[in-house]
Amino acid sequence: MAKIKVEFVCSNCGATHYQWAGQCLECKEWNALEEVLVVPSKVSQSECLKDLPSSTVQSLNEVKTQTSVRLSTGLSELDRTLGGGLVEGSVVLIGGDPGIGKSTLILQALASINLSENTLYVSGEESAQQISDRATRLGIDADVQLLSETYLEKILKTAKNLNPKVIVIDSIQTLVSDTSTSAPGSVTQVRDCAAQLTQYAKQTNTIMLMIGHVTKGGALAGPRILEHMVDSVLYFEGDAGGRYRIIRAVKNRFGAVNEISVFAMSEKGLQQITNPSAIFLSNENLSAPGSMVTVTREATRPLLIEVQALVDQANGAPKRICVGMDQNRLALQLAILHKHGGIVTFDQDVFINVVGGIKVSETASDLVVMLAIVSSLRDRVIPKDWIAFGEVGLAGEVRPVYNAQERLAEAQKQGFKLAIVPKANAPKKSPKGMKVIAVERLSEALDHLNENI
Ligand code: TYD
Ligand code: MG
Repeated sequence: MAKIKVEFVCSNCGATHYQWAGQCLECKEWNALEEVLVVPSKVSQSECLKDLPSSTVQSLNEVKTQTSVRLSTGLSELDRTLGGGLVEGSVVLIGGDPGIGKSTLILQALASINLSENTLYVSGEESAQQISDRATRLGIDADVQLLSETYLEKILKTAKNLNPKVIVIDSIQTLVSDTSTSAPGSVTQVRDCAAQLTQYAKQTNTIMLMIGHVTKGGALAGPRILEHMVDSVLYFEGDAGGRYRIIRAVKNRFGAVNEISVFAMSEKGLQQITNPSAIFLSNENLSAPGSMVTVTREATRPLLIEVQALVDQANGAPKRICVGMDQNRLALQLAILHKHGGIVTFDQDVFINVVGGIKVSETASDLVVMLAIVSSLRDRVIPKDWIAFGEVGLAGEVRPVYNAQERLAEAQKQGFKLAIVPKANAPKKSPKGMKVIAVERLSEALDHLNENI
């Protein structure tokens, strides 16, 4: 009999190690390695391949004529994020913090799909009664098939009998399979169950929606491998305490990535917001130092967001903390501010917050972050009707950004009166009622601030 091998798999990143260690060598996470028994498969690879029908070669043009069918979720905003609806046979992973509204959103979508197609909702977390209570609260009266089960083999058997068009797994971390010997929720279980579900979806052309939990760090719990296996990955953003939820496509084989849709949590479930451009501005009338508005572009549309900075005397080692932005980028921005603007923050704590819980990854937000920092440091208020955008390079130059005209147009529509923008982005004619300050270097933007506030 072949010898059983032992391996250690990191529960954070999925890396395999042959020896136990306190820290994963790949992702540097502590106490994340789990022991996994590698049971040799009884049939050899070549034997497995013997029975398979040989794949046929097709010409690309031939394939092109078979357009894929998209199924609407009944929520036009969610459809847009998915790239136009759910594609047949696709596997979508939906991640997010507990209580953010994953089950709610999926139940709403499923109720709408159920009007035309057969659906199956598999819940390993909640009882059928709990799901039915939620449906009543949401005012849903759909005949969705429910299955409270965590055993993968039973789920697949039920699915084969019912043959639904859409299957929801809530959540992938609760499933257990015969093929894996480790505990539910462990990396190998999650990976094996997801692999079998994906295979089922592809073979039967079923749409598979898998809900996944996220770790404290915000990544999907379990291996990153899960993200590679599926066709699309959607993440919920926004704080569970707040009203707004943002759903972002971080991977999409059938549409644009970074496309977002915005929902508001109400007592009747998630309501879509079709024009979210200004909802992230704090509606405080009182202007405070350290806050300024910028226009970001999330995939296909501009979005106005408010960046807040707080710069305060440090007590001990100075802190640099970012919420909704990249912390490493802040260190860079502070260094540029010092070198090219003479702004000293060595002895100051610097905190940055993006209002509304949305995450901004664009470098176009550099300029606004720097101006907000200066505003807080000097304790001067930047007028509420100013906006700024632009990437700031290491040499202190302000670089152009994509779709500047569209950003300016959106700001003008929302009543902003002055825009500080990169020179290369300056329009020939300013938008009506708006003054455009074109800057080539960071120092010019700082000068404008000094002279006017
Ligand atoms: P849920 O979908 O259960 O979250 P998840 O599956 O991501 O863990 O959503 C739970 C939260 O949503 C809960 O705090 C209550 C709130 N909620 C509403 O505010 N209104 C509603 O109509 C529903 C169904 C839930
Ligand atoms: Mg849930």
